[in-house]
Amino acid sequence: MIELTHTKLHAGLEKPVKILHITDIHLTYADESDTPEHRKLMEKRRGVFRREGGFPPFTPKEYFEQAMALAKKEGALLVCTGDAMDIYTHGNLTVFKDIIAGEDLMFSPGGHEHQRVCRRTMEEPYPYPETARAKLERELGCFNLYFESRIVGGVNIVTADNSLDYFPKKTVEAFKRELERGLPMLVFFHDAVWDELLNLKAPYHENVRLTEEDYRTSHEMIELLLHHPLVLATVAGHGHRDEERTLGSKTHYMTSGLFKGKARLIEIE
Ligand SMILES: [Fe+2]
Repeated sequence: MIELTHTKLHAGLEKPVKILHITDIHLTYADESDTPEHRKLMEKRRGVFRREGGFPPFTPKEYFEQAMALAKKEGALLVCTGDAMDIYTHGNLTVFKDIIAGEDLMFSPGGHEHQRVCRRTMEEPYPYPETARAKLERELGCFNLYFESRIVGGVNIVTADNSLDYFPKKTVEAFKRELERGLPMLVFFHDAVWDELLNLKAPYHENVRLTEEDYRTSHEMIELLLHHPLVLATVAGHGHRDEERTLGSKTHYMTSGLFKGKARLIEIE
C-alpha cells in the first residue's frame, strides 16, 4: 500500500480540503509500436527503479491505481506532477491514458514526459520545447499542460508547467491572471525549486534553447511563488525524496516518487 506523508496547511477554510499529491511514477512500458531499442531500454529502466525504490512490493502501475482509489476514499483531489512516464513511448502513453480514462485528476508534466532517451537531453524526434508540449497535450487530450486551476472549498489549486526547468511565458501570464481572483493558492509543478532553478542562467536539458524572455519570466514566476501573499505553499516532485524547505516566506514541499510507493496527503484547513 502507499506510504503517506501528511501535510497540514492553514487557510482559514470553513471545511477542510484534501489533496493527494503523487509524482514521479516512472511507468516503464514499450509495446509493438515502439522500437526494439525502446523495449529493451524500458526493461532495463524497470530494474533501475525497482532498485532505487528498494524493491517495493507493487509496480508503479499498481501504485498509480492504488492512488486513484485512495484519493476517492479520502475525498481528496488527485494532483500528479509529472514523470508519470519514464520516457515518451507508445507503451507508456497507452498505459497512462488507460489508467486515467474517466478519472478526475490534475496533471502537470515532468521532463521525462518529453524525453525519448534517458539522459538530460530533449532530442529526436521533436523540436523542443513547444512542439513536444503541444503534441503531448493533444495526445493526452484532457489537460492543459501549461497551466490549470481549480477552486476547491475556497482554495485555488493550481498546476504550472516547469517541466523543462523554467516557467514559460504562457504559464506565468496565466498564473498572474489567476492571482486576480484573490483566493489563496496552492501551487503544484514538477521541478522542485532548487538552486539551479532559483539562479537559472542556462538550460538544464541539452537541446532546449531558452530566450532572454524565458529567463525573465521564469525568475518573475519564482519571485511570485516565494513572496506573493496569496500563495499558501508550493509542491513539487523531481527529486524522488521527501523534503521541506523554507523559500522566501513560503514552505516548499518536495514529494517522493510514487514508484517507491510514496505520496503526500495535504489537508488545508
Ligand atoms: Fe522523476
